[in-house]
Amino acid sequence: MITFTVEDRNGEQQPIEIPEGINLNLMEVLKASDYDILATCGGMALCATCHVQVLDGLDALPSAQDAELDMLDTLPDADSDSRLACQIRVNESLEGAVFRIKGEPGFI
Ligand code: FES
Repeated sequence: MITFTVEDRNGEQQPIEIPEGINLNLMEVLKASDYDILATCGGMALCATCHVQVLDGLDALPSAQDAELDMLDTLPDADSDSRLACQIRVNESLEGAVFRIKGEPGFI
């Protein structure tokens, strides 16, 4: 199992456990866990509604590619610990990480 923590927009933290070897990105896992993530672009690094701040474990994650960095550059509230959840593959590099949901909320 891979365990990491998600903080919602109200500051509430909850652990999420995912079986190893699952072929999903973090945006898909957050949506499947009923977090309010719009993901308008469907995971193409084009909408930034899956913006997360990595509170812990940033260094262990695979580096962001150009498309992700370009999109993060356009966000006024992005920082050096910002990532797009759809560009993060869920694997053992997420073990122990803490993600804060930042992207624009939908209307669930
Ligand atoms: S889902 Fe659109 S940028 Fe991640």
